This record gives sequence, structure tokens and C-alpha cells, in this order.
Amino acid sequence: MRGKHGGNIYQVSRQLGVKAESIIDFSANINPLGFAPRVKKALASADMAILNYPDHEAYDLIHALSSYHNLPEEFFLAGNGSTEFIYLLPGILRPKSVLLVAPTFTEYEYSFQRAKGVVFYFNTREEADFRLEEKKLFDELKRGYSALYICNPGSPTGVLIPADTMKEILHFAAKKGTSIVVDETFMDYAEEHSMKAQVKNFDCLYILRSMTKFFALPGIRAGYLISYAKNIEKVQTKQGPWSMNAMAQRAGVESLRDSAYIQKSIQYILDARKTLVSELRKLPFLTVYNSSCNFLLVKLNRSAPLTAFELYEKLLHRGIIIRTCGDFQGLDDSFFRIAVKKKNENKKLITELKKMLSSDVSKKKKK
Ligand SMILES: Cc1ncc(COP(=O)(O)O)c(C=O)c1O
Repeated sequence: MRGKHGGNIYQVSRQLGVKAESIIDFSANINPLGFAPRVKKALASADMAILNYPDHEAYDLIHALSSYHNLPEEFFLAGNGSTEFIYLLPGILRPKSVLLVAPTFTEYEYSFQRAKGVVFYFNTREEADFRLEEKKLFDELKRGYSALYICNPGSPTGVLIPADTMKEILHFAAKKGTSIVVDETFMDYAEEHSMKAQVKNFDCLYILRSMTKFFALPGIRAGYLISYAKNIEKVQTKQGPWSMNAMAQRAGVESLRDSAYIQKSIQYILDARKTLVSELRKLPFLTVYNSSCNFLLVKLNRSAPLTAFELYEKLLHRGIIIRTCGDFQGLDDSFFRIAVKKKNENKKLITELKKMLSSDVSKKKKK
């Protein structure tokens, strides 16, 4: 794999010689409550799904998505994780120039390596807490880009661009003839800010959604695209046959039907995030950014006794993985990202961080 990603517990377990199950992985932003109980039940009797080809139209899932998002079925296309669409879109949009709002998910840039488009970055700034400064973005868009990519809420920053601002961006970009790809992988906690309803009004809009994070299905690969019906048809012709497997389709349907699990997950994560933020903010040397997601971007201040990479290594040897962020455009090696996990796991991380940040301080002072 070219890109560096969170969630590589198999590699870490080989490296440390420990069981993958014993690792606490704060580097992948997966719902700490796991997948929906209805998914477990459905996959326990999966003979039919295994013994037959998947429904290539993913009819049941599309139907379930349509009622979940309150949009007609023709606006949806199911796929092998949202990554499948990230890699299909450059071949469809064929942009000459692409503007990525950064820091952002690294796969967008990689997906353009095979296409001829030139990638440019619009950096949000640390001084502005990584909030989008829309006037500056509009000035940049005046140069005339073929496509604009925005991850909203942003990964790895956790910053949400409110719906009103997103609508202004849509209008501006549409006028300029710029296609817009909005990655809403982490929109589950702020659905009211989604641009999904706008696909009826803007044929230049492509929305990426994933069932990996909120519905905790990373290993099963389930994602979808929401776009203007004509765009959906175009993208579909570029997909391989049976791109979404039968188990993923079933898991997707059952996840969307499990409203008790959905409500419980949102409440749990918002609660756990609040506690985690407040505990982290009590620790020295850390700047914790506000987040609308189930993860937090943290900066280890320059006066800290160790670097984010040293912190990563120390935590790793205690069976804890965090995501260093030096590879993200617009960030440097003083940043790291942590997922909001189960409350007892978050507590363990805080305990370890407390020890590491203060024990290194005293060591440094003795020198
Ligand atoms: C912002 C963002 N978009 C898309 C993806 C890809 O998700 P999927 O598992 O649906 O391919 C990820 C995964 O890390 C992500 O962080």
C-alpha cells in the first residue's frame, strides 16, 4: 500500500509479536461499540449469501439507503468501500487541475497519480484552528479548477464546515464549472450539515459515504456514492461486476435498520469524546483541536520533552497505536490523531500519556 493509514493492527502484531486482539488501536476511527447487533445475527446465517453471486444492483441496500437518507434510489451507487469511488472518479471527471482542501485524506492525491490531472492544495491554517476560510477559497477557485475535493467533516482535523458555507461553496464552484467531491465519511454525527439533498440541484456534486467508520465494517468493505442520477449511471459503467460482495450488502442493510444501535452509538461517542477532550486538555504540552468526529487532532507543543513519533513508539510498546500526522500536507511531525474509543480504553490512553509526558519532563529536568 502506498499511503500510510491507521488501523494496521496485523502489521503491528507481527512487529511486536503480540496478538492483534491485545492491541488498542487509536489510529483507526472505528465505532468503539463495534458493528450493529443486527449485523451479527444476519451474518451468522450467511449460507445463501456465500453460495450465490451478489445482487449486482445491491437492490436491498440501495432501497435501505434511500429511506435512511430520504432521497430517491437513483441517486445512490453501492461499492467496495468509498475508496472504490475515490479511485473511479479521476477517470470520470478527467480534471486538468484538482484543488484539495488540506490537510486531508491522502488517497485523493494518490488516486490522481494514474490520471493526468495536476493536484493543488488549499491549506487550512493552524492559526485558524484549521477552519475553512471561505473567502480565501473563493479567491483560489477564481483561478478555475476542474475539480474541488473537500472532506467534511475533515480528516484528520475533525473540523466541520457548516451547511450554509458548503452551499455557498457549491454555488460558487458550480458557476465556475468546477466539479465538487465532498467526502462525508464522518458526517454521521452531524447529518444536518450533509450536502446529500443538494445532489438534486447540482449535477457537479459527488458525495462519498462510507460504512467503515460509524457502522464499524472496515473489514467487510461497504461504501456508497450519492450523486445526480446521470452521474450515478456514468460511474456504474466504470465499476467492475459484483463490486460489492453479498455479505457487505447484508451488513449494510442491517446496519441502517438498527436504529437503537445508531442512537446509542452517537450518544456514546459524543459522551466519550467530551470526557477525552477534557482529560487531554489537563495534560501538559498538548493542544487538542475541537472535533465534530469520533477522533481528535492533537499537537504536541515544541517544548514537549519528546516528539510525536517518540510518543508513538513508546505507546506502541504498551500495545497502543496512535496515528502520527507528519505525512499529511499542511501538518508536520508534531501532530497526531487519536480515535475516540471505549471509555475504559480512553482512560488507559490518558494514564499512559500522563506518565510519558510527566516522566520525560522530570528526566529532562534532572539533566
Ligand atoms: C476521510 C476518509 N474517506 C474515505 C475513507 C475510505 O473509507 P472506506 O473504508 O469506505 O474505503 C477513509 C478511510 O480511512 C477516510 O478516512
